[in-house]
Amino acid sequence: MNVHISPSILGADFSCLRDSVTETEKAGVDSIHFDIMDRHFVPNLTFGPMLMKALRGQTSLPFKVHLMTENPDIYVDECIENGASLITVHLEACVHLHRTLGYIREKGAQAGVAVNPSSSLSFLPYVADVIDEVLIMTVNPGFSGQKMITGAMGKINEAYELAKKLSISLNINVDGGINSETAKDAIARGANTLVMASAFYGSNDKANVVRQIKSIPLRND
Ligand code: DX5
Ligand code: ZN
Repeated sequence: MNVHISPSILGADFSCLRDSVTETEKAGVDSIHFDIMDRHFVPNLTFGPMLMKALRGQTSLPFKVHLMTENPDIYVDECIENGASLITVHLEACVHLHRTLGYIREKGAQAGVAVNPSSSLSFLPYVADVIDEVLIMTVNPGFSGQKMITGAMGKINEAYELAKKLSISLNINVDGGINSETAKDAIARGANTLVMASAFYGSNDKANVVRQIKSIPLRND
């Protein structure tokens, strides 16, 4: 097993998205990450679930959604109908987190929870029965190309140890400032999934970026 790599389409060239998706798949990645932002929960506005519908026929890669929106529940059905296999909602945006995660699973997708750099993982034991992935944000959500907030990295170790203690199978995903260097630290701490926008789309040898990161051994203790 090696790390799962999920490039964020936000970093792609929007004037030729179909080609970007083909190029992304050729690089040997595992899924595509869709950053849906509503300019309320975060200060940026990107795209809605219809983008997944437009691109669904262009690749067989799984689509993973990162909802940076207020009231994330209203997007769940459409994201799944348009081909998403995992939906991640923000801890800070969910009033009834357990209910939302349960609903996502009921609809046939995997359920993820994203936590801002300033948020704690103390919620985890209380949703252990309905969570598939935790998304540890290492930038304040809203934009790609930001500098990593390294103070948030300790939560990767925490998530790894908590999952072990709770005996749950939990994917630990890290999003924000991931590149070939920062990936080493994230993986050593226990990440088994990584999101990348600028470091992936900014490279002209994407397959090599993927190969390099996939050669890093996963934590196994
Ligand atoms: C940030 C998004 C990220 C972003 C990552 O709010 O959630 O997925 O696109 O961008 P990089 O890899 O450039 O930090
Ligand atoms: Zn994201």
